[in-house]
Amino acid sequence: MYRISEELAELGRKRIEGFPVEGFVYGSGPSKPVFMMVGEAPGETEVHSNIPFTGRAGKELMASLQSIGLTREDVYITSAVRSRPYRWEEKKERDGTVTERKYNRPPTKKEIIAHAPILDAEIRDIKPPLIVTLGNVGLQRLTGPKSKVTELHGTLLETPVRQWNEEAGKYIETEENYYVFPTFHPASVFYNPPVREWLQEDWKRLGQLLDRK
Ligand code: URA
Repeated sequence: MYRISEELAELGRKRIEGFPVEGFVYGSGPSKPVFMMVGEAPGETEVHSNIPFTGRAGKELMASLQSIGLTREDVYITSAVRSRPYRWEEKKERDGTVTERKYNRPPTKKEIIAHAPILDAEIRDIKPPLIVTLGNVGLQRLTGPKSKVTELHGTLLETPVRQWNEEAGKYIETEENYYVFPTFHPASVFYNPPVREWLQEDWKRLGQLLDRK
């Protein structure tokens, strides 16, 4: 099992202080995974279980892994941000009462920068033979804002990845190339059901790529 150092986790907690986020979920998986998966940020379930992708999206993701003969134990699972970004919103109950509730939201650019040193270290240490990005947040974090999952999903990119450079105050591309395979975030099927077919095709392609290796 690979785990980031406590110093780095502490730095991550410090850097995200003051943003509307909660919890801190470590990445999880072996130090020599079949591939690394990069999601967006934990949700409500994950900040309670402390394990990435254990909620509704996690169920979808585990089914996709299973479709190519893999389980959670075979892969390293992480995300752009390690804390749950939330926003307060009113929720109308059936009896008419209104309560305030925390809802998930995508992480902001600043929150992604706050936790960039964590993902950078995971990639540097694990040197994954393949990085599977789940959705636009993970994809753009690594390959820049011009990359779009709708255009690139299901293709194998050989590309540098972006690492945050604190002194320069910007992302800098790595000298070495990585294999990056973009696909959709597993939660996308909940709000856009037709994506399911593309997602299944992508995972089939991924399974074929791994067989060829
Ligand atoms: N989405 C993510 O990106 N990560 C999780 O752990 C859960 C949902």
